[in-house]
Amino acid sequence: MAIERTFSIVKPDAVANNKIGTVVATLEAGGLKILAQKMIRMTEAQAKEFYAVHKERPFYGDLVKFMTEGPCVVQVLEGDNAIARNREIMGATNPAEAAEGTIRKLVGTNIERNACHGSDAADTAKVEIGFFFGGAELAALSR
Ligand code: CMP
Repeated sequence: MAIERTFSIVKPDAVANNKIGTVVATLEAGGLKILAQKMIRMTEAQAKEFYAVHKERPFYGDLVKFMTEGPCVVQVLEGDNAIARNREIMGATNPAEAAEGTIRKLVGTNIERNACHGSDAADTAKVEIGFFFGGAELAALSR
């Protein structure tokens, strides 16, 4: 199996609901290491750019509003097949369809306010990590 890195966000709903610890514990119990983590307040410009792939979708404006409504936690996760593993641990985008024990089932509210984000592929993971973390910052934290 390949050691990979993926990008993750504990979204503003989960932070507001005091669920950072639940999310972190579920990721760690699932075998992923938290390589880097910081709490930020996403700006409107950052949210618009981060989710630019969805800009034609009807939910784009609400999504940008949601992601900027309060602090979130951005993370770099590392582990065997971390991208796919994180997506398993998160569960389906819609918490109503997420499997028992997944983060979105445990903590998510609805398809928008779904507690967490995880990269969907190696190329997007690289871009998303670089969007919030500098190379020197990650080098200093590497174990
Ligand atoms: P995420 O994995 O961060 O990727 C895009 C986000 O858009 C998704 O999680 C949800 O927060 C949101 N989203 C996806 N589909 C919908 C939808 N149909 N309605 C509202 N929000 C959505």
